[in-house]
Amino acid sequence: MTTAPEPPAPTEPLLTVRHLTATYSTNEGPVPAVRDISFDLYPREVLALVGESAAGKSTVAHAILNLLPQQTTVHGDIRYLDIDLTHTDPEAMRQIASRHIAMIFQEPLAALTPTLSIGEQVDELFTVHRHFTKNEAIAAAYRTLGAVLPDPARIVESYTHQLSGGMAQHVMIAMATALGPDIIIADEATSNLDPGTRQETISRIEGMRDDGTGVLLITHDFGVVARLADRVAVMYAGAIVETGDVSTIFAAPATPIPSACSKASQASTAASGSPPCGDSRPTSPRLAPNVPSSPAAPRPPRSAAPILPPSSSPPTPASMATPSPATTPSPSTAARPARTKPCCSRGLH
Ligand SMILES: Nc1ncnc2c1ncn2[C@@H]1O[C@H](COP(=O)(O)OP(=O)(O)OP(=O)(O)O)[C@@H](O)[C@H]1O
Ligand SMILES: [Mg+2]
Repeated sequence: MTTAPEPPAPTEPLLTVRHLTATYSTNEGPVPAVRDISFDLYPREVLALVGESAAGKSTVAHAILNLLPQQTTVHGDIRYLDIDLTHTDPEAMRQIASRHIAMIFQEPLAALTPTLSIGEQVDELFTVHRHFTKNEAIAAAYRTLGAVLPDPARIVESYTHQLSGGMAQHVMIAMATALGPDIIIADEATSNLDPGTRQETISRIEGMRDDGTGVLLITHDFGVVARLADRVAVMYAGAIVETGDVSTIFAAPATPIPSACSKASQASTAASGSPPCGDSRPTSPRLAPNVPSSPAAPRPPRSAAPILPPSSSPPTPASMATPSPATTPSPSTAARPARTKPCCSRGLH
């Protein structure tokens, strides 16, 4: 059991990521998925992590919650307030996850537990984290699911295989927001949703942000970025290659990713439910874009500090084929042995 951390001072980041590098181990060799990235997430802000498919966005999300496969080599520091998540044991992480840092997984059907009913999975949130009695937890599960789905009585009895992808995503969103976490990591939270539900989800995230939650928004949906994000970090080939506040990124992008969508995003149709550039996944390799040599422009009032620029040059697509010096820990982390992570194929309950 961990004790609840002190609430943060307004200018203190909720989440601090420094020099994060993650390399998957596969039969075909190492796959360097994340290369030396650093950023902060503050209360009451939405930081959008965007980039083409396979840029490493979900790997960052999973690294934060210790969900990468066990064989993955991870370097760098990840802190939630003053808690070092890189050295948090699985039980302590279980306490932090959901209650303090909740995640909406990109693949909700895979993230839910197939052997437990949805009701049991939601009950557990309240028994484990709020110490509710069984009956209190059941009532809370009804309320939680009823807030996002029309027929909670049926959903609580259902198992994962009985849900559609959209329903599973609703359940995931309900579970992620149920305990009022300090941080929500939303990995493609608005994908696979009908326009009305997408709009509800956006409003829900917006409401949580307004209540003080820090949101790490991972998305291909630039309408959502334009509507919700305070700052944007563009990932390319595992590195953060451009950062800035959302208006700067869309007005004068240094990389093609936001540029391709900026027009549509400025005239965001997020409210109408039609993603301007939603799920547009560029397929061609991009030229290495400019990397800001100094911290990004000052953040708007709601946010407090810039994302740190990457400490090394962005890799070229060719350099992704083999491990590069970028996978070597930075001096600050070199003394610490590479971590191997407990494997967790499912979401946190
Ligand atoms: N479990 C894994 N084992 C080996 N390689 C992996 C694993 N998961 C992801 N990868 C690889 O790591 C890289 C980054 O993947 P990741 O899923 O983080 O990208 P992403 O930016 O989230 O992509 P998308 O936008 O399609 O969700 C890709 O090359 C991917 O193939
Ligand atoms: Mg992903």
